Amino acid sequence: MGPVGGRTGRVRTVHGDARTLPGVAPGSVALVVTSPPYPMIPQWDDLFRAAGATDFDGMHRWLDDAWRACRDALLPGGILAINIGDALRTTDGVFRLWPNHGRVTLACERLGLRPLPYVLWKKPTNRPNAFLGSGFDPPNAYVTLDCEFILLFANGARRSFPPKDPRRSASRYTKAERDRWFSQVWGDIRGARQTVDGRRTAAFPPEVPARLIRMFSVVGDTVLDPFAGTGTTLWEAARLGRDAIGIEIDPTLHAELARRARAPALG
Ligand SMILES: C[S@@+](CC[C@H](N)C(=O)[O-])C[C@H]1O[C@@H](n2cnc3c(N)ncnc32)[C@H](O)[C@@H]1O
Repeated sequence: MGPVGGRTGRVRTVHGDARTLPGVAPGSVALVVTSPPYPMIPQWDDLFRAAGATDFDGMHRWLDDAWRACRDALLPGGILAINIGDALRTTDGVFRLWPNHGRVTLACERLGLRPLPYVLWKKPTNRPNAFLGSGFDPPNAYVTLDCEFILLFANGARRSFPPKDPRRSASRYTKAERDRWFSQVWGDIRGARQTVDGRRTAAFPPEVPARLIRMFSVVGDTVLDPFAGTGTTLWEAARLGRDAIGIEIDPTLHAELARRARAPALG
C-alpha cells in the first residue's frame, strides 16, 4: 500500500531514554507500537545489568517506568501495543518459563491502562520439528516457545470521533483485512532480517507495525516507538500517513535513524 490519502507522515527521532520520553508532549500520542528489551533473554543482559537490574522483577521494574511514560504520552483512548516474548532460562540450577507477558500485563493494568484481547504472533520456525526434552518418553518434554505476544491496552475509555470524520474514513480497512488482522493468532508473517553490520537488532517484520498502525490509529495521528531500534514502526507509520516519533538510546542506532528521517524519501 502506498502513501495513504496522498499523505506521507513526518518522522522525528530523539536520542534519549524510553523511561522519560524527552520531546514527547503529554497526551499527544494516539498509538504506541514497540518492542522493548526482553527480560531474561541473554541478548539484553548487559543492558539490564548496567541499570542495576539482574533478576526478573528488577528488569520489569525498569520496564515499568517506560510503560508509565507511555501512558502519560497517550491521548485519552489511545492504545499501547507491546510486542514481547516469554523467556526460558535456567537460574540457580532450575529450568523454567519466565512469563514476561504476564508481568507486563499486570504492570500496565496497575498503571490504570485497560487490557484488551492480545494477539499471539506465531513466528515462523525453520525447525518445524524442534523439540526440547526427553525423546519420545513422557512426561518431561516441554512445549516449543514459538509465539510472541502483542499485548494491547487502552488509555481509558474508547476514543471518540465526530460523525463522518474524513480522517477515519481515509483510514478504513477492508473486510478481508479485518478478518485476518483481528483474529487472535497471526501465523502468516515472515521474519525480518535480524542483523545490521553484524549486530543483532531484533527488528520487527514491517507487517507487524503496519497492521497495528492500521488497526489502531487514523491518518494524521502520531505514533510513538519508545524503543525505536532500526525504526521499523516509524517508517511504516510515515508510509501509512501517520506522524511518528522514535526514541532510541543507542547512539549508533539513533544516528542512523536521524539520517534516514532527514532523507527526502523515507525508507
Ligand atoms: C527489541 S529492540 C527494538 C527493535 C525495533 N522494533 C526494530 O524494528 O528495529 C529494542 C531497542 O531498544 C533500545 N533501548 C534499550 N534501552 C532503551 C532505553 N532506555 N530507551 C530507549 N531505547 C532503548 C535498544 O537499543 C534497541 O534498539
